[in-house]
Amino acid sequence: MQTRRIGDVEVSAIGLGGMPMSIEGRPDEARSLATIHAALDTGLTLIDTADAYHRDADEVGHNETLIAKALATHERGPDVLVATKGGHLRPGDGSWTLDGSPAHIREACEASLRRLGVEAIGLYQFHRPDPKVPYAESVGAVRDLLDEGKIRMVGISNADPDQIRQANEILGGRLVSVQNQFSPAFRSSEPELRLCDELGIAFLPWSPLGGISRAGGLGSAYAPFARIASAHGVSPQRVCLAWMLAKSPVVVPIPGSSRPETIRDSAAAVDLVLSAEESAELDAV
Ligand SMILES: NC(=O)c1ccc[n+]([C@@H]2O[C@H](COP(=O)([O-])OP(=O)(O)OC[C@H]3O[C@@H](n4cnc5c(N)ncnc54)[C@H](OP(=O)(O)O)[C@@H]3O)[C@@H](O)[C@H]2O)c1
Repeated sequence: MQTRRIGDVEVSAIGLGGMPMSIEGRPDEARSLATIHAALDTGLTLIDTADAYHRDADEVGHNETLIAKALATHERGPDVLVATKGGHLRPGDGSWTLDGSPAHIREACEASLRRLGVEAIGLYQFHRPDPKVPYAESVGAVRDLLDEGKIRMVGISNADPDQIRQANEILGGRLVSVQNQFSPAFRSSEPELRLCDELGIAFLPWSPLGGISRAGGLGSAYAPFARIASAHGVSPQRVCLAWMLAKSPVVVPIPGSSRPETIRDSAAAVDLVLSAEESAELDAV
């Protein structure tokens, strides 16, 4: 398995996104555990999750609990970097709400620590800026948790270039990752990707395949990916992930899966090499 770096940790160049296994439309637990174990079998050593990856109001941290269970029952569990997040809430009506207050961030981090059963969280990401709370206060709360040793590395998510610079400054240069939406049909995070490349900060594209609701579709950009896929005899999703990996060594896509087959297929993207012409063609879509 090819690797990339998040901070000082070497991780597989592709990670597993845990969200489809815990929100609306999720599979049963046995299939989810099989999916996570399939990811570990292929050599993936990064799993993205969040306390807010749950469906009902009374099951906060459903995905973290699932991941902890899967890691505890696989020999490669200890090798995995679990990247969780705090700052989003799900009241149980299908919506996503925000609380970026320092008090909530601290409480959420401590609850994640308990669910993951670790002394320190490998990578803790501030999930999304809360317009009701100054960004510096939210990021400052995560910095305090880092200074206290409750988390080992800090990332942010859904941030613009100014917020990336601001967060890195508040953290004294210790920001290790930015997780933003980026896929063939959603490319407006290119400036953040370029800034991360410049700063040497990992960039984790979320919904890299166009999201759960468009699973397998890659949105409006499907056709050129499918054409190049058929020339290589692979899936369009694999081409999509290979295209992202080729953009910069800081890119670490985190495709979501709820089936062993899909994460196996996605993991194989690390071995797919596109020609410069193919990448340029996909860039221009
Ligand atoms: N930071 C944020 O605000 C934020 C927001 C959204 C998501 N995320 C993170 O990003 C991760 C990825 O995003 P996502 O799960 O929303 O969407 P995604 O990765 O774009 O798409 C996931 C869907 O694609 C399908 N799929 C995966 N690999 C495939 C393959 N090789 N061939 C065919 N289909 C494939 C999966 O199908 P099956 O379910 O059938 O396996 C799944 O339903 C999430 O799981 C989550 O960890 C973060």
